[in-house]
Amino acid sequence: MSPQRLLIRDLAQVASPSGSAAPLRGAALRDVTLIEDGYVLCDEGSIVEVGRMRDLSVSRDAVEIDGRGLSAVPGLVDCHTHACFAGDRVDEFSLRAGGASYEELHARGGGILSTVRATRAASASELADRLAEHVAWMRQAGTTTFEAKSGYGLDHDTELAQLRAVADAGGVATWLGAHTLPPEFADAGAAAYVEFLVEEVLPEAARIAEAADVFLERGAFAVEQARRYLTACRDAGLALRLHGDQFTESGAIPLAVELGARSVDHLEATGAGGASALAASDVTGVLLPASALFLDRPMPPARALLDGGAAVALATDFNPGSAFCESLPLVCSLAATQMTMAPEEALAACTVNAAHVLGRADLKGRLAPGYDADVVLVSAEDWRHLVYHLGGPVVDTVIAGGEIAWKRSA
Ligand code: NIG
Ligand code: FE
Repeated sequence: MSPQRLLIRDLAQVASPSGSAAPLRGAALRDVTLIEDGYVLCDEGSIVEVGRMRDLSVSRDAVEIDGRGLSAVPGLVDCHTHACFAGDRVDEFSLRAGGASYEELHARGGGILSTVRATRAASASELADRLAEHVAWMRQAGTTTFEAKSGYGLDHDTELAQLRAVADAGGVATWLGAHTLPPEFADAGAAAYVEFLVEEVLPEAARIAEAADVFLERGAFAVEQARRYLTACRDAGLALRLHGDQFTESGAIPLAVELGARSVDHLEATGAGGASALAASDVTGVLLPASALFLDRPMPPARALLDGGAAVALATDFNPGSAFCESLPLVCSLAATQMTMAPEEALAACTVNAAHVLGRADLKGRLAPGYDADVVLVSAEDWRHLVYHLGGPVVDTVIAGGEIAWKRSA
């Protein structure tokens, strides 16, 4: 059955990044088309009209949503999560609260590897159930399109099980085989593990995933290993992503530019040279301020990137270790309060620019005819409350593909 015709009417505001280009940069990132007293009409899962109530012609056969007191923004796009995992890291969180560092815990075999142990031990249905729970959390926060990475399997079967679970849950799957070195390769080393990934896992991973990602960092993978992994993944048809400059500047930006990657994500340690190199490139910088906050790290240099003309996206990095946070509205609040991003820039960064990182900017990230009918109704007459209300109940209703996916109970 195709989705019904849906009219969201009497909205105090309809707010959408302007134009049709992607990714947005510079002043265009602040250019939001604002319609007051507006409506959004959806049909068969797509937006067919956006306009002012006074211009609405009488429409029959549409299910109506009363938008009084609410504003509408595009369904949010979370372009960087690690939502497919088992177990949790609440014990590690307590240790970190007592002063232990994330990198120390990682070096001692905790951190990512503790989630690898839990994920390897989970059955496919347990993994699917945990992912479904996480997807429901994301949806309640306004996310209608999500990406999720593997990287908690680090062996043939579990990496592929993660990718399948993400694709089955309707997510965009990214293969993060090169997340960290699994214990069984401790003696053989990172280069040997990368060869295993390329030879044994890539052929099947490339059939499920849309992109590949690597953790290029001290204690994880070095530039040469990342180049080998990413080049092979590109040859297999995958788009390229990198976790880069999270703790140290280890060459992620130059490698991303060299290989024509879609994005470099994190950038907490990026200096002035890296920021201007990224700004001058076609690579999108994905900023993850919830991760910086959660690990008490410096925020990434958002203003240097934005003012230099970089394509910037925002994402949660939702994962059990460095960012147990699924809320893009909270990420937008952090962008505004900690990185001096305008609410308009934050909105574009987690809609159209995030959709660009996922190769979906033609259908996702805007409220305009022809785009998918993914709409978030914000619980305020001014859409900027999405950014302003720090951790508040800002999402009233989530519409995905023209159907109500979630509604706050009265
Ligand atoms: O993006 N830094 C590498 N990977 C993730 C964290 C994964 C984890 O701690 O489980 C990140 O922060
Ligand atoms: Fe991440």
